[in-house]
Amino acid sequence: MSLERKDEYDHRAWLKERDLSAIEKTYLMTLIWLDRRFRLVDYLEILENMYYKINLQMPKSHTEQYNLDNKFWYWYPLYALGSFSVLAYLVAAVSGALLGFYYAPSAASSAGNPEAYTQIVAIMQDQNFGFMLRSIHRWSAQVMTAAVFLHMLRVYFTGAYKEPREVNWIIGVILLALTVGFGYTGYLLPWNQLAFWAGQIGVEMALAVPLVGEWTAQLIFGGFSLGQPTLQRMYILHVFVLPFVVTALIALHIGIVWMQGIAEPH
Ligand code: HEM
Repeated sequence: MSLERKDEYDHRAWLKERDLSAIEKTYLMTLIWLDRRFRLVDYLEILENMYYKINLQMPKSHTEQYNLDNKFWYWYPLYALGSFSVLAYLVAAVSGALLGFYYAPSAASSAGNPEAYTQIVAIMQDQNFGFMLRSIHRWSAQVMTAAVFLHMLRVYFTGAYKEPREVNWIIGVILLALTVGFGYTGYLLPWNQLAFWAGQIGVEMALAVPLVGEWTAQLIFGGFSLGQPTLQRMYILHVFVLPFVVTALIALHIGIVWMQGIAEPH
């Protein structure tokens, strides 16, 4: 292995000559950019050598040991739960975007009811397929939460969280928390009695945080009692912050699965 570097090498010209897709080119350019700064390739080579030396002493995997190649393991259907979570997320995203056409986060009162609530009722009663749209959104959200939780159990009980998949497990824990966050912020949006009192519990839980309780309540709920600032924050979290963060994390999560491959049951 040579550690000699040719800094004058024209990688742009090299890439141009190759018949590569835009994604491949961007990927290689990013790697080259990082390598020129952090000498990734040199260090990866050293790591690879170390890895193979250590790996020679590692025990056989479960499939190798019990010769399970090409055998159907009866828990395999549960390996679909991750993809099922993605599917439920997509259905919730599309139905949520459509609901957003008819909803505005207004706590102002009109004819004795908050406007947000009046709009939700109008979606169900006045829009074509409105009741169905709202039901699809609520059901897909609940199915997603259940699927994500069951997916976590599958990962746990097949031992798929173990090295080298710890990072993906941690990303998963964050995704589970954010999925619950999606559920909670969405639950408050109709601004009905259920929403209001769930919000009240949230404020009190925030206030119970040691030292930074008041600050947390201010930040998340816009004050110590519920009102327009609360609804507005829940709305922005639900339709703007969470969608971007969760979509990016899911892409990263699945990207890592793609790179590492699915863990064998052991
Ligand atoms: C929005 C939430 C989530 C989505 C969309 C998602 C999606 C996926 C998908 C599609 C896979 C491929 C394998 C499979 O489907 O079983 C996967 C694997 C994995 N997930 Fe998730 N996941 C989520 C949440 C979680 C949670 C909560 C955890 C754990 C705390 C987790 C940990 C893992 C790990 C460690 C793997 C690799 C498993 C293996 O290689 O067998 N994920 N995830």
